[in-house]
Amino acid sequence: MYSSSFFDGNLYDFSDKEPQRAPIGVFDSGVGGLTVLRQLYRQLPNESIIYLGDTARLPYGIRSQAEILQFAREILTWMQQQRVKMVVMACNTSSALALEIVRKEFDIPILGVILPGAKAAVQQGKRIGVIATAATAKSNAYKNAILEIDPRAQVWQVSCPEFVPIVEENRIHEPYTTEVARSYLEPLLQQEIDTLVYGCTHYPLLAPVLRSLLPPQVKLVDPAVHTVVACAQELDLLGLNNTHPPLPTRFVVSGCPQQFAQSGVHWLGHTPMVEVVLFPDIAVTPLQQDFVG
Ligand code: DGL
Repeated sequence: MYSSSFFDGNLYDFSDKEPQRAPIGVFDSGVGGLTVLRQLYRQLPNESIIYLGDTARLPYGIRSQAEILQFAREILTWMQQQRVKMVVMACNTSSALALEIVRKEFDIPILGVILPGAKAAVQQGKRIGVIATAATAKSNAYKNAILEIDPRAQVWQVSCPEFVPIVEENRIHEPYTTEVARSYLEPLLQQEIDTLVYGCTHYPLLAPVLRSLLPPQVKLVDPAVHTVVACAQELDLLGLNNTHPPLPTRFVVSGCPQQFAQSGVHWLGHTPMVEVVLFPDIAVTPLQQDFVG
């Protein structure tokens, strides 16, 4: 059903005898999830990781819930075939639109980024801005999660559709990026937010630009940090911590491996070797134009 190019996945199959040595699966639509991967390297250096970027179907943020759900199901099925011990849905859009549903369908621990991000946000402030993809903002996932934890908090959400292409195409340091960021932040600054949540995994990669536009007292919350804290707790709870040295990270994409390697080198500090996986529906899944973010 799925094809992958040159890698021997069996090298990573510890699931029967030593399940704690099995890798953690991490997925995002593209390079954004590398912000979560970096936290995994920092906080859980013994864990082996399989990172999947669904780059053929990026951006996720302008797609319908039905599509996001279908992609999540396909990716989780593939992850199960790779015998991962846990999946981190390092994609806010998938976490917002699909997590609750697929958790009931797959017999594997699946962690999302919204709840850890929301919990961290309410610890930082009361006037909370969320920058996110159109789909995440429209879902109100962050707003609902934050208000459930602290009904006194105030939340403003802004969708930032230009940010993902800017990050994927490595245009972060162009003057245009600062102008786009200024316009996205303006309504939040008018509300005098004290906290800003990166509601998309791509956005921490824009930190220098965003920081330069925000008053110094505004705190930035990166859900990646807190998601990996939750991941560590879950591994403890399940007795699934790996105490052996990790295997090299497998990087897998559904689109162009060279482009991923080129974008990834900035965030990883080395050029990753990238495999390709072909999901069955790619050729028949055009962007739905009727989705209004
Ligand atoms: N990085 C993903 C997220 O956190 C999706 C970005 C996109 O593909 O639009 O939402």
